[in-house]
Amino acid sequence: MQFPPGFRFGMATSAYQIEGAADLDGKGPSIWDTFAAQPGRIRNGADGRVAIDHYHRYAEDVAHIAASGVQDYRFSFSWPRVMPGGATVNPAGLDFYDRLVDALLAAGVRPVPTLYHWDLPQELEDRGGWLNRDTAHRLADYASALAVRLGDRIHDWITLNEMNVHTLYGYGLADHAPARGLGLAALPAAHHQLLAHGLAVQVLRTHGATSVGIANQHFPVAAASEDPEDQMAAEIFRTLTNWTFSDPILLGEYPDEMIRAGVGTEDAQLDRDLELIGARLDFYGVNFYEPTAIEAPKAGKDYSGVLEVDIPEGLPFSPVPVKSDERTDFGWAIVPGALTEILTSLKDRYPHLPPVIITENGASFHDAAPGPDGRVHDPRRIAYLDAHLHAVQDAIEAGVRVDGYYVWSAFDNLEWAAGYDERFGLIHVDFETQHRTRKDSWYWYRDLIAAQSRPA
Ligand code: FCB
Repeated sequence: MQFPPGFRFGMATSAYQIEGAADLDGKGPSIWDTFAAQPGRIRNGADGRVAIDHYHRYAEDVAHIAASGVQDYRFSFSWPRVMPGGATVNPAGLDFYDRLVDALLAAGVRPVPTLYHWDLPQELEDRGGWLNRDTAHRLADYASALAVRLGDRIHDWITLNEMNVHTLYGYGLADHAPARGLGLAALPAAHHQLLAHGLAVQVLRTHGATSVGIANQHFPVAAASEDPEDQMAAEIFRTLTNWTFSDPILLGEYPDEMIRAGVGTEDAQLDRDLELIGARLDFYGVNFYEPTAIEAPKAGKDYSGVLEVDIPEGLPFSPVPVKSDERTDFGWAIVPGALTEILTSLKDRYPHLPPVIITENGASFHDAAPGPDGRVHDPRRIAYLDAHLHAVQDAIEAGVRVDGYYVWSAFDNLEWAAGYDERFGLIHVDFETQHRTRKDSWYWYRDLIAAQSRPA
């Protein structure tokens, strides 16, 4: 597989999923610390208090990342580590990221940090979290503290991660922190994250950032049948989970009047917000895992267990299983062509789509511990990544400009509410001993990257 010259390969992680050190060196609590401490929230009672102890093992981790030859490493800052309570800067928290960034640069890897990957300071949640407009301004202050300290070495920034998943699972449902379960009344949380994005873009550029983007999750939504009711249900879901989070950024407007009204900001202010939110980006990050299929809810039918989450009754759509012969061990459908499809539909929808970076893509397989040969054989992950990279190539051939691809994830880690059972890493982690072992997929990725610089 050959990618265009300058194409960037990377690996991705996020703070809560790997760092641990939950209350060391001045770090405050996040909504995920609170959520994890409540019985029954995370599978097997797991939490991120230690995670994979990246806070202490970052030097070893950077060595594993760099040895693969990746150009980029996407990680996230922990807001409550850098600014506990969302209020005052914690110098020890900034020191950690200072060390991490220096280690990456010394190893020849470009840091591509995300400001916010779901771990809101608990005190901000206590004041309304993302339902409170002020949280967007607090994020801008936090962005400024990071840019002042690290902007001399970091040039590429991602503002927020998957606002749609955070809004839907954390505010609409109760399957992720902060477990609000508000249904469609969660929409203001979407708008305030978008506003935070817009404010952060401005702040980062003021401090000299040259490349700013976002990481949005996108997926094609198919209707379960030709039936107009199913088609309509799919259209509502597609709009709500995809375009609500990308149209404001890439078109400067909400996809329809219902959404515009639902975000609950009065018109004049909303128009000003949208102007900020719609500022041109240097790249557009797409996270992709699987497509979705939707039907209009059928009376009396049991939809439980279709997703890992419980969808409340009364909504105008119901997810149904995606038809696919192959699934990951997490149960996610493996449909690489859906990645090509979503990339081409983004290009068709957005005349000014910036260059795309696939900021996350990967698969959980329950890889066994290293065998007697010391290796972790994960051929299914290799097949998944290979197929999705081919899907990216197909999109490039169809005229979509894609500048990079990051594997989720560098390491096995805490998969949110699913705990430690779901292993997405290129590097296996023994959660008892914290021993790291490069999986076969890590070697495969290294060889693929190395083959890029060689003439065919
Ligand atoms: C995405 C998240 C990421 C990871 C993958 C599997 O939704 O952004 O943190 O958990 O899913």
